[in-house]
Amino acid sequence: MTDTARTAKLTIDGKTLDLPIHSPSVGPDVLDIRKLYAQAGVFTYDPGFTSTASCDSTITYIDGDMGELLYRGYSIDDLADKSNFVEVCYLLLNGELPTKDELEEFTERVTRHTMVHEQMLHFFRGFRRDAHPMAIICGVMGAMSSFYHDSTDITDPVQREIASIRMIAKIPTITAMAFKYSVGQPFMYPLNDLDYASNFLQMCFAVPAEPYVVNPILSKAMDRIFTLHADHEQNASTSTVRLAGSSGANPFACIAAGIACLWGPAHGGANEACLSMLREIGTVDRIPEFVARAKDKSDPFRLMGFGHRVYKNFDPRATVMKESADEVLSLMGIKNNPTLQVAKELERIALEDEYFIEKKLYPNVDFYSGIILDAMGFPTSMFTPIFALSRTVGWIAQWREMITDPGLKIGRPRQLYQGHTRRDFVGLDKR
Ligand code: SDX
Repeated sequence: MTDTARTAKLTIDGKTLDLPIHSPSVGPDVLDIRKLYAQAGVFTYDPGFTSTASCDSTITYIDGDMGELLYRGYSIDDLADKSNFVEVCYLLLNGELPTKDELEEFTERVTRHTMVHEQMLHFFRGFRRDAHPMAIICGVMGAMSSFYHDSTDITDPVQREIASIRMIAKIPTITAMAFKYSVGQPFMYPLNDLDYASNFLQMCFAVPAEPYVVNPILSKAMDRIFTLHADHEQNASTSTVRLAGSSGANPFACIAAGIACLWGPAHGGANEACLSMLREIGTVDRIPEFVARAKDKSDPFRLMGFGHRVYKNFDPRATVMKESADEVLSLMGIKNNPTLQVAKELERIALEDEYFIEKKLYPNVDFYSGIILDAMGFPTSMFTPIFALSRTVGWIAQWREMITDPGLKIGRPRQLYQGHTRRDFVGLDKR
């Protein structure tokens, strides 16, 4: 944040205030209102935080008009094409791409923490067998704090680091276990000679009864999906993690809070809802009916996978995901996948429709991800858990940035109160 010495004048009831303006390295300037209530006795009002910067950060930058996404300054296109998820984890956590030695050391540390404590298996047995995997990973992540007492002191940098490594390493194992539990198959242990994405696929799809060989095209697609979802500045679930962390809650509880928030269909749950919507549409000829419903103000239906609070252009992740969808489907020999045909035709129709053009509604990251995950053999209930797996590193990076900020304060928004003013109690006999 650079002080520009520029100020904005605000006059309220004849009193004029000078509010400082700060400039970012890139993106919109911000108006500093931290002293507003003390000086003018008024709050700002911004439900949904459409115009509010909650923090300053150096991790991820989104240009919604340009359709640009940068992790520590590197574009998502470059990272998806030239990097890999573990290297992106290092970048998000440490701010720079690792040297060869740094990457080897980091990879080895993550690999050595992929197993969960054997007693954690009892948590899984406690869930109904038809429990949604998101319920399971949210519960198990929160329960991690009951196992790792040596990494819950957030004031200790060593404990913050080991908690970070443990969560990045174990979230694929926990997510795969949630999947295995939901399909009634035995848990598969991580294998240390596999890379991160391949390990996750084998823990999901291998069975003890026969050998399992990871398809390298699928593990590359999986790794790319992890990278595309890794972080996204101050979205709802990241803001939840920051708010939980601002109270000093332990890191496992904060990440569990992020998982809970991500579950909503307006956020990370949209990938599951999108594929269900595409299947409900079923055929190309039914698309106009659904587009009409999406435009009908009296109908709560929205096109899942379309629209974004920040992107008013293509979501760059959707573009990369669309390329991956073609690759994976052709590899899987799925030629005329009806769902993909509906998705591509829906995208074409929507992008030509005046309503979507005027409201700048484009496909987002969730529009194509479900098609790839479905082709890879995942049920729709696993789509959001895979999003949560990917986003765990982003949540951790943002949490660490907040926790180490010397100006850290507990988050405590105010409100525009519209309720009753003080009134006398009325006894039961008089009501
Ligand atoms: C993610 O924040 C992030 O960065 C999130 C995320 C991440 O990586 O963390 O990118 C991941 O959550 C992606 C978004 C996934 N959600 C969906 O695909 C669900 C469908 N999309 C919408 O619910 C909506 O677009 C949101 C929630 C994504 C964004 O909502 P906003 O910014 O609050 O916008 P809005 O609801 O005010 O919509 C603006 C207008 C409205 O019409 P008007 O009231 O102005 O007349 O556009 C309309 C909306 O009705 N609109 C849609 C629509 N999305 C918005 N109309 C039809 N279909 C849609 N999908």
